[in-house]
Amino acid sequence: MEFTRPVSQLIPTRISVRTYDSRKISREDLSALDSCGSEICAPFGSDLAFRVVHLPDLEEGYLASLGTYGVIRGASYYLLASVKESLNALVDFGYAFELMVLKAHDLGLGTCWLGGTFTRSAFAELLGVRPNHIVPCISSLGHYNPSMPMRDRAIRILARSSKRLPWEKIFFHSDLKHPLREETVPKYAVPLEMLRLAPSASNRQPWRIIYDAGIFHFYRYRSSMYLAGMRLTKIPDLQLVDMGIAMAHFELSAQEVGITGAFETMRERKEFKGMDYVVSYKEEI
Ligand SMILES: Cc1cc2nc3c(=O)[nH]c(=O)nc-3n(C[C@H](O)[C@H](O)[C@H](O)COP(=O)(O)O)c2cc1C
Repeated sequence: MEFTRPVSQLIPTRISVRTYDSRKISREDLSALDSCGSEICAPFGSDLAFRVVHLPDLEEGYLASLGTYGVIRGASYYLLASVKESLNALVDFGYAFELMVLKAHDLGLGTCWLGGTFTRSAFAELLGVRPNHIVPCISSLGHYNPSMPMRDRAIRILARSSKRLPWEKIFFHSDLKHPLREETVPKYAVPLEMLRLAPSASNRQPWRIIYDAGIFHFYRYRSSMYLAGMRLTKIPDLQLVDMGIAMAHFELSAQEVGITGAFETMRERKEFKGMDYVVSYKEEI
C-alpha cells in the first residue's frame, strides 16, 4: 500500500467526518481508491471486495432508506466493502477497510466508519454483495469543510471522540499487572502510539497488547453489555473490526520505522479473564 505521506502523519490527523460538501471526487482519486482496494491483502487472507458508490440527486425517500440520515450529511459517495464469512473475517475487514480509510485521508477526502447507523441491506444491495459475504461496516466519503461544522463538533464531544485511553491502560508487559514501559520497547514507541490513536466503534478502544518475550500479543477486551446490544440488533461484532484496525495501524507504522514482522496465531498463549486472544506480532530477525 502506497501513501504520499508517512502513516505517522496520516493517523494523528484523521478524524471522522460527518458533514460533506457537494464537490465531486476526481476521477484520479476514485481510481487511486480502486487500485488500493485491489492491492489489499488482509492478514488472515479473507476474501474481500471494495467499491465506491456515487449516489447523486437521490430522492428524499430513498436517501432516508439508507439509514445514515441524521448522522451523515451531504455525502453522495460511500465506500463499501464486503468480506466472505469465516473465523477471522471481521478482523480482516477492519484491517483492510482501515487501509482504504487512510488512503482516502491521504487523498484529502473525509470518511466516517459506520457500523451501526446505516441500513445494512440497502448498502449490500448497492454493492451487489456475493453469496456468503457480509457488509460489517461502510464509510461515507467525500470533500468536507476543514473548519468543521458545529454539528460534527457536537457529535465528537458526545462520543468523546478526541479522547484515547492512556498507554498504561492498554499496553502491558507479561501480564495485566505490569504496564509496558516505553523504555522496554523503544523502537516500538511509534507503532504503539499509532495503534493507541486508532478509531473504534463508540470509541471503546477494546485493544489490549501484552508484550512477552519479544512478541506482541493482541487481545480484545470484551465489553459484554455492548456486545449483547449488538447481538440483539443483529450488528456484527464491531470490536473484532476494531482489532483489525489496531493491527493495521501497528503494522503500517512498524514498517515505516523499518521493522519487518508478521502476524501469526500462536497455539501457546496466556488466557486472561474477560479478554479474547486475537493474534500475535513477531519481528523477523
Ligand atoms: C467499527 C467502527 C464502527 C463505527 N460506527 C459508527 C457509527 O455507526 N456511527 C458513527 O457516527 N460513528 C461510527 N464510528 C466512528 C467512531 O465513533 C469514531 O471513530 C470514534 O468516536 C473516534 O473518533 P475519530 O474517528 O474522530 O477519531 C465507528 C467507528 C468504527 C471503528
